[in-house]
Amino acid sequence: MADNGTAAAETDAPTSALIRELLSFKELRPCDEEACRVFFGRLDVCDIRMRFASLHFSMRLFLPSPRGIAFAALDAAEEIVGVANLVHLDRHIAEIALIVRSDRQRRGIGRQLLAQALRWAGDQGFSHLLGYVLRENQRMRALARTMGFRSVGTDGLLIEMRCPISRTTGKERG
Ligand SMILES: CC(C)(COP(=O)(O)OP(=O)(O)OC[C@H]1O[C@@H](n2cnc3c(N)ncnc32)[C@H](O)[C@@H]1OP(=O)(O)O)[C@@H](O)C(=O)NCCC(=O)NCCS
Repeated sequence: MADNGTAAAETDAPTSALIRELLSFKELRPCDEEACRVFFGRLDVCDIRMRFASLHFSMRLFLPSPRGIAFAALDAAEEIVGVANLVHLDRHIAEIALIVRSDRQRRGIGRQLLAQALRWAGDQGFSHLLGYVLRENQRMRALARTMGFRSVGTDGLLIEMRCPISRTTGKERG
């Protein structure tokens, strides 16, 4: 796996199957800006680059866009520990991108967030979820593969990964 510089990535940490955080999910609203700001403050630069393929971004990008929805995963203290953004590309396909707080990775949060996104997309009637992942982002590529995503193309830098979804997809894989 590519190293992103975080402690979790560098150690032989137990897999998310062994440490699984108990989470709840909520849809983010513009009024959640302050909680998003706190979450953003807990992200490593390397994780931000993996998520946005850039270091230039505003934490407002975590909030829902007019064509999309954003979910937060909350821990027992109701702090945001992960955010998934979904954008409708057309009636059939939605694009997903996610990020987990840097100090809480490898505990199953990313997998649960993705399962939640798949459930939501299935409920909304989308046929596919699509994500663009940096080629070097082996962690996300591994997670996506285990959740049913397959690589369908690349421009050299980014790999396009797609997952067919059904109404039961997220339930099967979460
Ligand atoms: C990719 C990311 C979302 C994974 O979140 P996470 O909460 O750490 O993932 P999980 O604990 O649910 O792990 C799920 C699977 O991902 C893979 N994975 C995650 N971290 C890994 C690591 N450091 N090394 C190898 N595989 C890893 C494994 O397949 C893992 O399953 P396993 O634990 O059963 O082996 C997280 O690392 C992250 O936020 N990265 C920065 C932002 C980013 O890359 N976003 C994707 C942009 S599209």
